[in-house]
Amino acid sequence: MAPSIIVPNRSVNGVRIPTVGYGTMLFPEPQRAAELIQGALECGYRHIDTARKYGSEEWVGAGIRASGLARKDIWVTTKVTEENAKADDFKRSVDTSLKTMGLDYVDLLLIHWPQPKIPMEETLGALAQAKKDGLAKNIGVSNFTVALLDEAVAKCSEPLLTNQIEYHAYIRQDKVMAACRKHGLLVSCHVPLARGAVVKDPVLREIAKSHNKTTAQIALKWLIQQADTVVVPRALSMSQIRENIDLYGFELSPAEMKRVSGLRERNLRIVDPSVRRPVWDEG
Ligand SMILES: NC(=O)c1ccc[n+]([C@@H]2O[C@H](COP(=O)([O-])OP(=O)(O)OC[C@H]3O[C@@H](n4cnc5c(N)ncnc54)[C@H](OP(=O)(O)O)[C@@H]3O)[C@@H](O)[C@H]2O)c1
Repeated sequence: MAPSIIVPNRSVNGVRIPTVGYGTMLFPEPQRAAELIQGALECGYRHIDTARKYGSEEWVGAGIRASGLARKDIWVTTKVTEENAKADDFKRSVDTSLKTMGLDYVDLLLIHWPQPKIPMEETLGALAQAKKDGLAKNIGVSNFTVALLDEAVAKCSEPLLTNQIEYHAYIRQDKVMAACRKHGLLVSCHVPLARGAVVKDPVLREIAKSHNKTTAQIALKWLIQQADTVVVPRALSMSQIRENIDLYGFELSPAEMKRVSGLRERNLRIVDPSVRRPVWDEG
């Protein structure tokens, strides 16, 4: 059966990327992962977000194959972890990712976290080389601060498409988002539901009620209604997987956008691992 919603694309610098992707981190039951990824594709997702670190690449490949969709119709993002920031390790990681997924290329390859112990030129060189070799159609970074992003844009020989950062209704990220926009980069929002923290919010609940939507849908809509953003929520039930792309055919008013933006004062940073966090830009 044809899906009732196919997630629309966002166009950035001539690249078209589906606005909502399916996040694949933290699958508690790996044996169900391929089934859920297939289910997401069948219900209208066309964008999957994985990483070497998540251990989900095998299931992403299996889910894509089981969906029967053409490779060209699905956007796949993967990431190289900071332990593999040296050029040789980086190349090995990309080759392993592709082999594990059974793919010839990814649509987007990201440096997962900055690695201060390795010169950035070396990692960026390996990232750009993956693009030149046709292993990645687009390249970018993740969890980069303003200073790191300025440096990466200046030093990378190939254009970067995005910075994937934590962004949701409970965290202000104005500085890093302004830097993304200054460089013409897409803002990919990870942890867009604050790992579930926003779904009980009373303000979101009130707005949701007036649109006959759920709080999760309002939290995601608020993100994608901002310029140059895409979101990659993760859900483990088919009903929530479906719910998270049912975001079209309604708009939040400027007043509602402003109300949700006000929630960011909580400043809740969820992804903040002590071993690899950079000095975040506050505000
Ligand atoms: N680049 C990076 O460093 C980085 C870091 C973290 C995450 N990511 C990416 O971002 C993706 C999303 O992040 P995340 O998985 O940590 O958090 P998330 O998407 O913000 O939140 C997932 C949580 O929200 C719940 N949820 C999902 N849809 C819901 C709905 N419609 N109603 C109510 N609750 C709902 C889920 O419940 P259930 O568990 O019951 O499904 C889960 O507990 C990851 O999977 C990964 O692809 C990237």
